[in-house]
Amino acid sequence: VVPTELHLRYAPDLLTVETGAVESYSFDKAGCLVRAAWDGHLYRWGLDGSCLQKEAVVRRGEKVRVRHDIDAGLAIARQAYAQAIRLFDQVQVEQDVWYPVLQLIYESGVLLFEKRARRFQELYGSVSILPPDQYGALVLQVTEGCRYNRCSFCTFYKHVPYRVKTPEQFEAHIQGVLEMVGPAINRRRALFLGDANALGMPYAQLLTACEMINQLIPINSADQAAIQGIYTFMDLFDRQPYTAEQFCVLAQLGLRRVYIGAESGCEQVLRVLRKPNQLQHLQQFVAALKAGGVGVGLIFLLGAGGSRYYHDHAADTARLLSSLPLDKQDIVYLSELVADARSEYAQWAECEHVEALSPGEMREQEQVIRQGLRPVDEGGPRVSRYDVREFIYY
Ligand SMILES: C[S@@+](CC[C@H](N)C(=O)[O-])C[C@H]1O[C@@H](n2cnc3c(N)ncnc32)[C@H](O)[C@@H]1O
Ligand code: SF4
Repeated sequence: VVPTELHLRYAPDLLTVETGAVESYSFDKAGCLVRAAWDGHLYRWGLDGSCLQKEAVVRRGEKVRVRHDIDAGLAIARQAYAQAIRLFDQVQVEQDVWYPVLQLIYESGVLLFEKRARRFQELYGSVSILPPDQYGALVLQVTEGCRYNRCSFCTFYKHVPYRVKTPEQFEAHIQGVLEMVGPAINRRRALFLGDANALGMPYAQLLTACEMINQLIPINSADQAAIQGIYTFMDLFDRQPYTAEQFCVLAQLGLRRVYIGAESGCEQVLRVLRKPNQLQHLQQFVAALKAGGVGVGLIFLLGAGGSRYYHDHAADTARLLSSLPLDKQDIVYLSELVADARSEYAQWAECEHVEALSPGEMREQEQVIRQGLRPVDEGGPRVSRYDVREFIYY
């Protein structure tokens, strides 16, 4: 029996087969599964084959999520391909552009997906975290890991030795990435320079890397369907990484926004986080970026320093924010601190009998911090929550 609501949905970058709200499978132009839903679960796969599962219905305000590792993610993908093919068998594909993709899915099925996951492993190892507005960016790892890697709360790069790629290695990486994503590059609107602090490399090397990107990948900020710019993370450990003039050159090569882990405006909290940020460096850095025509994304940790610094963290952060020339080009992220039990931060909190904040207390801190910012309708930056548990590089 053909389900009555069974149909295909076409977007330029995704082909979806679905039966109303019950079951749905979306594939990219390379025939790789991107997301699916069935039996009340939503699945989104990472390029590495791992999978983030959420519930279609949120219970008691709690977001229920399960993270499946690569083996489990691939096993769920195998099931999803089989279920999707069963639905494809029952419908007519009307769009010529998607015929070859469907043919690929029929011929190779999940093997396409498994091959890409293996290639991802060779090319990247891992992509540990991105800012939420960059989850869909194409990551290019000009560096790997974090040059500092000693913050007491952050475990993202503990397993990755820091290294800066030579121009030859970076070119081979870009070529490999382009070959891996194939026609599915049409899902991408941004490039993200990995990993944790790409601007920590000397200016001349970064310039060479950006010039190379421009030679190999077209960037066109005026075209809604093209890759529109380059984005990256940076720390605050140097006096002044680059000058406004240098940022201006990088902006001409496509650099649009730099995301900085500011974490707190309170010096005691920064000490607990083992984050050697100098607040005046943040002011200088933001001024240079803005003068060079590059936007800024600032990340602050809600709940940092727990009950001990509940008031100071929020008040000092609001004060710091009010001293910065942020505008509508910029974003402020408020990331709830997720303390891994094995982290140095968790051990500090336990030894010092410092309580973690409740969700209500985090919301109160958020309110206080937001007061340091010009409202969006008066030209201030966007403000958004950032939940590192939601990240998957897809
Ligand atoms: C991986 S860092 C990259 C930026 C840059 N390395 C820096 O620290 O300035 C990105 C952000 O992830 C967030 N982050 C890292 N570990 C976290 C954790 N355990 N809980 C919540 N957010 C975390 C922090 O806000 C951090 O600034
Ligand atoms: S927060 Fe940033 S600087 Fe600190 S260890 Fe993590 S990636 Fe490195």
